[in-house]
Amino acid sequence: MKEQGKIWMNGKLVPFKNAKVHVLTHALHYSTAVFEGIRCYKTTKGPAIFRLQEHVDRLFKSAKIYSMKVPYSKKVISDGIIKTVLASGLKECYIRPIAYYSYGVLGLTPTPNKIDVAIACWEWNTGESSAGKVRGARCKVSSWLRIDSRSQPMQAKAASNYANAALARVEALKDGYDEAIMLNYYGKVSEGSAENIFTVNKGEIATPPLNAGILDGITRDSVIKIARSEGIDYSSKRYRQRRAVYYR
Ligand SMILES: Cc1ncc(COP(=O)(O)O)c(C=O)c1O
Repeated sequence: MKEQGKIWMNGKLVPFKNAKVHVLTHALHYSTAVFEGIRCYKTTKGPAIFRLQEHVDRLFKSAKIYSMKVPYSKKVISDGIIKTVLASGLKECYIRPIAYYSYGVLGLTPTPNKIDVAIACWEWNTGESSAGKVRGARCKVSSWLRIDSRSQPMQAKAASNYANAALARVEALKDGYDEAIMLNYYGKVSEGSAENIFTVNKGEIATPPLNAGILDGITRDSVIKIARSEGIDYSSKRYRQRRAVYYR
């Protein structure tokens, strides 16, 4: 990680290397954090943040699912994101806002802890994205299933979802692939370890529906909107999945 610029922590821009948390932070032990991943692209008019409002909205939605009351408004977080990008001097980067149950009371119940928020950005240069750009990513259907939304709310972009994703990613890499495709509990395609999936077949674009237990991706939404506006056939039919059986 190249330490460049500053990190926004609870309303203040601090030097990159000073952005520290306590080792007994609740989120570190129990994964009680929600975050966003936002692309910022180089344009002739300067760095352009991709659908900032939608990302901030999703951050707040994820926080709500985890009973987190973010102690800043959406406007403050959006401004913080812009300030962080400007302070980095980067023309193109990946932005990571994160809200988490902080340091205070370390037991399973997160809610007595305060919510801390941080925003960082850095140059994105990872293997799987460059593989995708250069020659198309080689993908493997993972032996790990995507967590079922009845076990964990996969519509929240929560840190806890990503241990499952990391298992799938590491398995794919160990087996010589670039990325994993994850099936859900019904054996249907859900998404990649960290991206939504589309197929293109005979002029029709298809993507798994939201009831596959996927993240409601903002890129997915853009692809769907562009396909519609270009008159390209597009399908995302609800999966017919067996009714859930609950044992209580
Ligand atoms: C599990 C998962 N699905 C889908 C996506 C794509 O989401 P978006 O297009 O909003 O970045 C991500 C992004 O990181 C992800 O982690």
